[in-house]
Amino acid sequence: MQARKKVSVSDLAAMKGKEKASVLTAYDYSTALICDRAGVDVILVGDSAGMVVLGWPSTVPVSMPEMLMFCGAVSRGAKRAMIVGDMPFGSYQPSTEIAIENAIQFIKGGCDTVKLEGGAEIAGKVKAIVDAGVPVMGHIGLKPQTSTLWEGYRLQGRTAESAKRLIADAQALEKAGVFSMVLEMVASEVAEVITKKVSVPTIGIGSGPACDGQVLVLHDLLGIYEDIKPKFVRRYAELAKPILDAVSSYTQDVKAGKFPGEQNTFHMNPEEIGKLRGRK
Ligand code: KIV
Repeated sequence: MQARKKVSVSDLAAMKGKEKASVLTAYDYSTALICDRAGVDVILVGDSAGMVVLGWPSTVPVSMPEMLMFCGAVSRGAKRAMIVGDMPFGSYQPSTEIAIENAIQFIKGGCDTVKLEGGAEIAGKVKAIVDAGVPVMGHIGLKPQTSTLWEGYRLQGRTAESAKRLIADAQALEKAGVFSMVLEMVASEVAEVITKKVSVPTIGIGSGPACDGQVLVLHDLLGIYEDIKPKFVRRYAELAKPILDAVSSYTQDVKAGKFPGEQNTFHMNPEEIGKLRGRK
C-alpha cells in the first residue's frame, strides 16, 4: 500500500483562496487515526486537552510533559494530517531560548509544527522559532491562556480600535514568518479583513465563514464535553448519552453476572481439564 503524503506547510499555503482547510483537535492515538481517515487536513494537539481530557477549568495548568505525551500519541495515529503542537502557558513566555528549546521538543515528539498564542508582543519569539527551522502557527483574538486571566471569554474586535489592534497583530505575525494563524472569537467582519490582508491561511474558531479554514475542539463537535458549549460550536454528534448508556449497561451486566458471556470466555483443552480435575 502506498503511504499517503503528509499535508505540508506549502500544501496549506496553496489551499488559501481555493480550498478551505479542515482542522480539528485530537489528543490520543485512536481519535487521531479517525481524524486522519476522515480527511482532516490539520490536527491540532491543543492545550484544550487540559480542559476536555484532564478536567482543569482552563488551559493554564497544562505542562510540557503532558502536551508531549498527547503529541506522541497523535503522531502515531495521524499519517496524513499535519500535526500542530500547542505550546502550553509558560513554555515560551520566559525567554526566546526557552521558547526555541520547547518548540524543538514538540518536533522531536512527533509534531510537524507548533502554535503559540499572542500577537505583536511575541513576534520576536515567533521569528526566532521559525529561524530555528520550526514552522509556527499564530493564534490571536481570544487567547485562552491569558485572556481568561484578564477579561474572560469575550468576543474580540467589537470596536474599530480593537479591530485595528488585531489587524496589526496579524500583520506582525505574518512578518515574523508564521505559516498560518488561528483567529479565535474574532468578529466575522474583522476576520474577513485579516483573511484578505495576510498572505497566510487564517483558521477560524468562532470567527465566521470568511476564514481560510475552520477549527473545532473534537470533544465539542462530538458532544462529549458538556461543561461549556460556546455558540460557535456545532455538535455533529451527541455522544455523551450513548457512552453513558453503554457504560451503565456494562455495569448492570457485570453486577448481574451477565458479562462475560460464553463468547467472551476462553477454555482449557478438555483433556487438560480432566487432568486438572483428576489431580484434586
Ligand atoms: O487548544 C486548542 O484547542 C486551541 C483551539 C481552540 C484553537 O487552541
